[in-house]
Amino acid sequence: MEKIDLVKEVRNEIKDKNLKYTILTFGCQLNENDSEKIAGMVEEMGYSKADNFEDSNLVIFNTCCVRENAEERLFGKLGEIKKMKEEKNTIIAIGGCMMQEKSMLEKIKKSYRYVDIVFGTHTLQTLPEDLYKVIIEKQKVKNVIDIDGEIIEGLPIKRNDKFRAQVTIMYGCNNFCSYCIVPYVRGRERSRDPEDILEEIRGLAKEGYKEITLLGQNVNSYGKDKFKYCKKEVKSDIDNFAKLLRAVCEIDGIEIVKFMSPHPKDFTFDVIEAIRDCDKITRMIHLPLQSGNTKVLKEMNRGYTKEEFLELAKKMKDNIPNLYLSTDIIVGFPGETEEEFEDTLDVVRKVGFEQIFMFIYSKREGTKAAARPDQVPEEIKHQRFDRLKELYDSEVEAQNKRYIGTVQNIMIEGKSKNDETKYCGRTDSNRVVVFNPNGKEKIGDIAKVRITENHKWFLTGEIV
Ligand code: SAH
Ligand code: SF4
Ligand code: F3S
Repeated sequence: MEKIDLVKEVRNEIKDKNLKYTILTFGCQLNENDSEKIAGMVEEMGYSKADNFEDSNLVIFNTCCVRENAEERLFGKLGEIKKMKEEKNTIIAIGGCMMQEKSMLEKIKKSYRYVDIVFGTHTLQTLPEDLYKVIIEKQKVKNVIDIDGEIIEGLPIKRNDKFRAQVTIMYGCNNFCSYCIVPYVRGRERSRDPEDILEEIRGLAKEGYKEITLLGQNVNSYGKDKFKYCKKEVKSDIDNFAKLLRAVCEIDGIEIVKFMSPHPKDFTFDVIEAIRDCDKITRMIHLPLQSGNTKVLKEMNRGYTKEEFLELAKKMKDNIPNLYLSTDIIVGFPGETEEEFEDTLDVVRKVGFEQIFMFIYSKREGTKAAARPDQVPEEIKHQRFDRLKELYDSEVEAQNKRYIGTVQNIMIEGKSKNDETKYCGRTDSNRVVVFNPNGKEKIGDIAKVRITENHKWFLTGEIV
């Protein structure tokens, strides 16, 4: 049966029943963007979003397996939902990265028999068909494939935000960093046709979106696959990330352009030039360090040394005025010694990151690092984490002081969570700012705000 007919049949079956759905997203921004597509598909079938989890007739878990705690959260929630299933026959679907792991798939099949649908990262688009089988044919569905899926364009999408949109520009990863499971569960790098990306963003601009985040596991290698996974021939002369960035910036209505994540080893000068030349591109760039020690970096298979990272950070700061850098760091990679960890602290001090996402190394079955016998004891990993955090906290304090008196362009995101009379938004560097409305600017506008006070985790200011 055609997909359109399936959707129609399910719509007919569930219409007037006022059925509700909830999607629980456990992973990164790419995972979130997939969830927005899942929401688009189920709304097309006639479900509407539940206000409360308990009222849902359909619960979809979009899982992540990058670290062990992401997996634990899923199992906690799955246990909770069993009762709901017994009471109101809630349909339960699990998809995402964790389902691409064979051991997890087995565990779900064996110990969580009440799950109705299991789908993977390459089979997102078949969800309408899966739901059809469950609702109309009363079947259970397992729909996971190992091979890289073709790029599917034109899925319906229900976005979480009205002004900021995420746009996936490429799927998968080819880097095989030795600690990381992503290349195993997301498959090879697959770049979307630039014209499809630009068309999507033009559409978003028409709908009133102002900020776009371009997503991929390594956006700097956009186009390197020569678009061989696209369904139709790609005719565009946009064949790398720098050109794509410039083309996105030319779209009227889009005022802020962000991207996540670049890889330091592929951060070429043409991308630095594009950022320098285009005011719309954020001055907060994510540059994942992972470790500051050359030997550890080599064992991580990161493709750069401590010195090369420092050089790149310097080159970026020299060429892009007012640049801020954020980063990801893993502590306790197998074999990491005290001195090697100190190198990480050294790079943190030298670069002065605006934001650091810190992770304790988590063993991922099937990766190269997991097989190493020299795993760092838990206690030492935690101590290193605390020491890195201490250093970071002291830097945040010092950096916040530098904002006082400056005027920042802030997109008004909404009311402040703690005080409904105030607005909140973020600086270019991602600091939260809370300020009084002035009666003119409204939510979604970009206001000029003078920063007046520092409260450690947020700043306050006034519209000028
Ligand atoms: N492609 C992105 C990262 C995606 S995963 C990049 O290369 O920057 C997000 C972050 O999770 C990584 O940057 C890394 O810091 C962390 N991470 C990945 N695998 C991990 C593991 N096994 N243990 C701890 N942290 C991990
Ligand atoms: Fe994982 Fe490395 Fe790929 Fe990032 S670049 S997703 S850390 S393998
Ligand atoms: Fe997690 Fe998959 Fe993203 S493993 S970090 S959701 S790509």
